[in-house]
Amino acid sequence: MQTANDIRRTFLDYFVENGHEEVASSPLVPRNDPTLLFTNAGMVQFKNVFTGQEHRDYKRAATSQKCVRAGGKHNDLENVGYTARHHTFFEMLGNFSFGDYFKEQAIEHAWTLITKRYGLPEDKLLVTVYHEDEEAAGLWRKIAGLPDERIIRIATSDNFWAMGDTGPCGPCSEIFFDHGPGIPGGPPGSPDEDGDRFIEIWNLVFMQFEQISKDERVNLPRPSIDTGMGLERIAAVLQGKHDNYDIDLMRALIEATAHEANVDPDGPYKVSNRVVADHLRASSFLIADGVLPSNEGRGYVLRRIMRRAMRHAHIMGCQDPLVWKLVPTLVKEMGEAFPELGRAESLIKETLKLEETRFKETLGRGLKHLEEETGKLGEGQTLSGEVAFKLYDTYGFPLDLTQDILRGQGRAVDTDGFEAAMERQRAAARAAWSGSGEAATDTVWFELRERCGATEFLGYDTEQAEGQIEALVVDGKPVNKVEGPTEFALIVNQTPFYGESGGQVGDAGSARTLGGTEIAVSDTQKKVGDLWVHMAKIEDGVIEVGDAVELSVDGARRGRARSNHSATHLLHEALRRHLGKHVTQKGSLVAPGRLRFDFSHPKAMSHMELKAVEAEVNEHIRGNSPVTTTLMDPESAIKHGAMALFGEKYGDEVRVVAMGGPSDDPSKDIYSVELCGGTHVNRTGDIGLLHIVSESAVAAGVRRIEAVTGAGALEYVDSREGLLTTAAAAAKVTVEQLPERVEALIEERRKLEREVQDLRRKLAEGGGGGTSEAKEIAGVSFAGRVLEGIPARELKGVADGLKQQIGSGVAAVISSDDGKASLVVGVTEDLTDKVSAVDLVRAGSEALGGKGGGGRPDMAQAGGPDATAGPAAIAAIEAALAETLS
Ligand code: ALA
Repeated sequence: MQTANDIRRTFLDYFVENGHEEVASSPLVPRNDPTLLFTNAGMVQFKNVFTGQEHRDYKRAATSQKCVRAGGKHNDLENVGYTARHHTFFEMLGNFSFGDYFKEQAIEHAWTLITKRYGLPEDKLLVTVYHEDEEAAGLWRKIAGLPDERIIRIATSDNFWAMGDTGPCGPCSEIFFDHGPGIPGGPPGSPDEDGDRFIEIWNLVFMQFEQISKDERVNLPRPSIDTGMGLERIAAVLQGKHDNYDIDLMRALIEATAHEANVDPDGPYKVSNRVVADHLRASSFLIADGVLPSNEGRGYVLRRIMRRAMRHAHIMGCQDPLVWKLVPTLVKEMGEAFPELGRAESLIKETLKLEETRFKETLGRGLKHLEEETGKLGEGQTLSGEVAFKLYDTYGFPLDLTQDILRGQGRAVDTDGFEAAMERQRAAARAAWSGSGEAATDTVWFELRERCGATEFLGYDTEQAEGQIEALVVDGKPVNKVEGPTEFALIVNQTPFYGESGGQVGDAGSARTLGGTEIAVSDTQKKVGDLWVHMAKIEDGVIEVGDAVELSVDGARRGRARSNHSATHLLHEALRRHLGKHVTQKGSLVAPGRLRFDFSHPKAMSHMELKAVEAEVNEHIRGNSPVTTTLMDPESAIKHGAMALFGEKYGDEVRVVAMGGPSDDPSKDIYSVELCGGTHVNRTGDIGLLHIVSESAVAAGVRRIEAVTGAGALEYVDSREGLLTTAAAAAKVTVEQLPERVEALIEERRKLEREVQDLRRKLAEGGGGGTSEAKEIAGVSFAGRVLEGIPARELKGVADGLKQQIGSGVAAVISSDDGKASLVVGVTEDLTDKVSAVDLVRAGSEALGGKGGGGRPDMAQAGGPDATAGPAAIAAIEAALAETLS
């Protein structure tokens, strides 16, 4: 038997042998297409290659693409479980030519692969072509030798494939397998084509056009090829089954489900088994691609899929959560082809288990309520929208879950009534909001949030994505169009830009419309909870609501912020371990250039403490352990040791970011566990290095650490190194000798200062060649000196020296320094009752242009602005002394 894994391998190998590049499946959340909820075909990742906007270095490619058809335009959710070929998740095998080969080779390849490699009998195959496409019909006759009755012309959109309302499209040709007359059903195009006899296995699209809008279609730059073959379908045909759920891969999942639920896989719970098997795949792959359950957008589609599976587990009588236990079987079956499944295994399990545990709490009660309500209804009567809304609002029943339950009873739900109840609730929220005292200027954001819904954030997984413009705001007012040069706020349906929150600054970067208008984004803010507002600017060009834009985060800037954010978590934990559990976060700023962390601690940290904290953080960085993110309810998160920030409001589910520790096993010895919505590095080693730059006080009992990491730390260290080198060069030594040299220089300077002081004193006292003479004034010795360049603080010492020299008398010293004059007068103890230094200093100060001065009778000082008046001041003092003594 060819297993599903063999069939995938054969397909890819065949096309690689024929010059195709094997390209990995793109994620389920389309990065390059904001109009799609989920990737729903192999060509989605190549959309811009077909239209010529993007170039790759190959012209032929082959993929096995993950696809989800649920919740959006192609919604298969409600049929899954009941039919043979509906899935929410499936794989599409495809080969692509980007302006390389066209119809002839595409048909040749398809025919060779299915008849020669897969070995399907030629006489069981037939094809359809678009009714106008004679060329394709002729090629099928020539290449496959098919007779005309097995080349069916179809005039409907069945044979004109389009990705969506816009995008690449073209006529197509489908290959069908005929299971033979034993199975009911007619050939394609016939009234009973929906039977099971003729099954479409491969669609070859001759991509020729691009649908620009509803009314405009243009030619692609070059005719191209896009094909799609559902792996589950071809596997069913090759394994001789009619039902996709009977192929080896699906069977393994169904049997694992039945085993865990302890039921017969083919017994009365057959539908439930199939639902669980299908939904397990969709949920797991979506979670692996970054979607987490939520109440809006993609997250809500995931939640609906998960809850539908959970209800079927409930039908099978499972008491404990079931779906999460099946993840290892899925990883075993599909993990080789899709390694992301294995990498996300623990996240998938945790997320499923949490959702299941929580939904279980309300599922039973909700079902009981529903039963009571339906009990009141007559046969076939519709359930009121009010009841369906109560089930939604109180018991967490998505509308389609209620519909699914009622389907078995032949009942419907009044969906208009449901919508009306929903609208009433929104109106109540609106009224509550407008009374909440939020600034009036925020009204615009609230209104836009209502109109556009929450922005979907893609930035945990990517820094580039296409978004569709939902709103443009200029000076607080929504507009339909902006023309450059203008500054405006940009709101898109999905974005990779991080909106400022949790201390992490918002992303900056750029965006570009498909028409080529360049938009600069300087910042991103989150308004009213989950509306992402990009602060944008265009120089020229025009952009309009509804345009698609390619958004690119400034990756280097984001990378630095990410590194600083993860380092902040490690720092927080290290501080708690070194200083104590009283350390709690008081504030945090995570910017690209640095991190700032404020925490409660009563006193300054010592140098040793800082070094120990820094060393411990760096040890965990070098440990290079993975950084894991899981979704939990707040209580479990706190049980896992998450540091919840006091006073923060948390929703029903929180992101838990864990990192550090000795092992790769996230369940063991994790160093830091925090509740956090920020973006983080993949492994702690990505932080590179943490360097603490400063520690200071912010307020009583609150300290602040500023630090740099990664490239920022390197730049910091480099600039310090530069300073050292400059200093060493100036001191004419090596950096190693610098400390010793600086100490020696300081010592030498001290010595020289002392010598200079001595010399000055000697000079002042008349030594060193000067005179030490004193004159007599009315019988009292008077020594007066006018000096230069002696600082004022040294004059007292000089005056004291003079007093000692004359033994009994008056000393006056004046020095001009820095353009000012200073004066000190000293009187020996024996004369202070006759002569006051204070009076004399006043007389001198006046001559210097100063105002008075002061001191004690034995020593007084003053100053004045006239640096040249020294001799006059001495004369004035002499005169004053003579007068005092007369
Ligand atoms: N894009 C084509 C499809 O999905 C092949 O059928």
